[in-house]
Amino acid sequence: MRTFSIINQKGGCGKTTTAVNLSACLSELGRRVLMIDLDPQAHATLSFAYQPEKLRHSVYDIFSPSKAGSFDWNDILIQYSDNLFIAPSNLLLNFLDKELVDFKGKERILIGRIMELQIPFDYIIIDCPPSLGLLTVNSLNASSEVIVPVEPSFFSLHGLRKLLETVRLQEEKTGHIIRVQALATIYNGRNRFSREILKEIQEHFGDNLLTTTIRMSVRLKEAASFGTPISEYNRYSIAYKDYNALATEIILQEEQSYPVEKKVLLKPQLVNGAIVFRYKDPKANAVLVAGDFNNWSPNEGIMKKKGSNIWETMIPLDPGTYQYRFVVDGKWLPDPNNPIKADDNLGGFNSVVTIS
Ligand SMILES: Nc1ncnc2c1ncn2[C@@H]1O[C@H](COP(=O)(O)OP(=O)(O)OP(=O)(O)O)[C@@H](O)[C@H]1O
Ligand SMILES: [Mg+2]
Repeated sequence: MRTFSIINQKGGCGKTTTAVNLSACLSELGRRVLMIDLDPQAHATLSFAYQPEKLRHSVYDIFSPSKAGSFDWNDILIQYSDNLFIAPSNLLLNFLDKELVDFKGKERILIGRIMELQIPFDYIIIDCPPSLGLLTVNSLNASSEVIVPVEPSFFSLHGLRKLLETVRLQEEKTGHIIRVQALATIYNGRNRFSREILKEIQEHFGDNLLTTTIRMSVRLKEAASFGTPISEYNRYSIAYKDYNALATEIILQEEQSYPVEKKVLLKPQLVNGAIVFRYKDPKANAVLVAGDFNNWSPNEGIMKKKGSNIWETMIPLDPGTYQYRFVVDGKWLPDPNNPIKADDNLGGFNSVVTIS
């Protein structure tokens, strides 16, 4: 599963348009997609013609401490089409900063909920608000990748440094690498100024600028106002062509290995009071981790596939020493990247991790 945050604290640069139309095009290409609307403005929700004030449940339920005990994804997920599900937003999201002011772990609420999802999504696309606040930080903590829509305008590069710093800070805190790619949006090739700014964006992001450029098209505004993605509104428009090309470009990346895997630390790593376990295996179908911390019950240690060959999970642990093994397609194996081992009294050995 690949999870993308669509972020830029600059307003009106095409975040929502990208979240909505990329989700729709990916789902048309056979991928199972969940689009999460994390913006209290609920523009993505409205773009699919759902009226936030008429919905009983929304992503607010994910975060609100008062809903914690009764949260159920089935309440909030709306199936838009065979392959596309929407988690709608609500104005109530505006109050979360206050409600969660003293809440421990408030930056990791979303990732916790995503790990509880029962539906096997190929993509989660998260539309973020135009700020780098708590909701965007939650989104980053839940994402393996980021798309930054950049509209070629005088201010478009302003603020990008702050944005990239925020991403790096979350990487340091969580220990997981986030791939950042920029997307040029609302591009008017007839305008010399736009062309010059696009060149600057190219210089700034280099290889991390997506090859697809989303051109300016009034059809996108029209589609949003009709509450349909461009794929349903007008398949002959350049806007459909562009978003379809973007979805194809993203899908083609599935076959390349993520940069994530080049830099990733494989031995167990302590991050914010939790241990990140990773296991590298391109051929495995299911990898679990079992140890003292989950009563050696592998079903409580499900690892998620990141990219094409890294399996990862994060388990919050109190200080102490723990023995564990990976369960790879049913086989119980010690951690090949952890040299610390203990005799298992059965002629083999377990791996050992200590938190002081
Ligand atoms: N390629 C495009 N061509 C023409 N208009 C576009 C294009 N992309 C987006 N727009 C329009 O620009 C406006 C802003 O787009 P959008 O809502 O996607 O931006 P945003 O970054 O999500 O804004 P916010 O920061 O408020 O959430 C909308 O009216 C949208 O229809
Ligand atoms: Mg938006």
